[in-house]
Amino acid sequence: MVKVAVLGAAGGIGQPLSLLLKANPLVTELALFDIVNTPGVAADLSHINTPAKVTGYIGDEQLGDALKGAHVVVIPAGVPRKPGMTRDDLFNINAGIVKNLATGAAKHCPKAFVAVISNPVNSTVPIVAEVFKQHGVFDPKRIFGVTTLDIVRAATFVSEITGADVASTNVPVIGGHSGATILPILSSLSHSFTDAQRDALVQRIQYGGDEVVKAKNGAGSATLSMAYAGARFVSALLDASVLKKAGVKECTYIKTDVAAADGVEYFSTVVELGVDGVAVAHPLPSFSEHEKKLYAAAIAELKVNIQKGIDFVAKSA
Ligand code: NAI
Repeated sequence: MVKVAVLGAAGGIGQPLSLLLKANPLVTELALFDIVNTPGVAADLSHINTPAKVTGYIGDEQLGDALKGAHVVVIPAGVPRKPGMTRDDLFNINAGIVKNLATGAAKHCPKAFVAVISNPVNSTVPIVAEVFKQHGVFDPKRIFGVTTLDIVRAATFVSEITGADVASTNVPVIGGHSGATILPILSSLSHSFTDAQRDALVQRIQYGGDEVVKAKNGAGSATLSMAYAGARFVSALLDASVLKKAGVKECTYIKTDVAAADGVEYFSTVVELGVDGVAVAHPLPSFSEHEKKLYAAAIAELKVNIQKGIDFVAKSA
């Protein structure tokens, strides 16, 4: 039995993500939780002829039932950006939402894999971790920040320049999930870019989300591409943990010591997934001179973002 719970399932990301998860044959139960509209979304998805049994849960009093027995909990709950906002601007609203949902997960499914989509991911992952620590159930191998959209975007934007097949283009993107903390490792590719191409690509990968926020003109941020990326990440988790497939790798933001020497305890890195979550967190790659500068900028911002999440839980305890 493989139960996946989606928290924030009625939202712009939550609905298409739930659709894609309903289409995943490994999922046998799909629990949709939100503060609004989940009965309708669940009724709609439940008519699709795939194995997952779909149930809708609404309001805090039903959170426990949504979470009980979950193998994976995906969290896209919270408010998205409007033009002119950074992901950090979302902190004040989303931190409380994520803390509440993480408390539910720590109580009702402490062994589940938790995949956090709600922004700012650089801070919301430490929030989930601190809540799990408070409940004595923290396992750093099981809590993930979903940065897959950065990897998806990087492959798309890079292949537009190189002309290579997008499906086989793989660009590791490490660090964090906002602006300067997003560190694409273009030096790992065999293509050699001009400095101007490289700078434009880095800028576009770091701020690709802004293109969507601007184009949606106040109606939110990336939802469909994010749903695709979120479903890809959950699918990787299931391939590794349910099918026990070897060699499943994704970049994801986790508690790790890969950048501990530079003073950060959370970092997105290439992770090999296994039955218990993180099997191997790859060390930092070798950086080009340009990437060394990007890394330093990423570290400086990450430190602030991580501390903000930790402090939030400590203050609201
Ligand atoms: P949305 O506003 O369309 O949907 C959010 C949903 O969360 C709504 O259905 C709302 O009712 C629900 N919600 C609010 N409070 C809740 C609570 N306490 N419990 C359960 N559900 C609750 O927003 P959208 O576009 O789906 O974005 C959701 C989050 O994902 C935002 O924080 C956004 O910044 C983030 N995001 C993350 C990305 C990533 O790459 N990790 C990419 C794009 C967005």
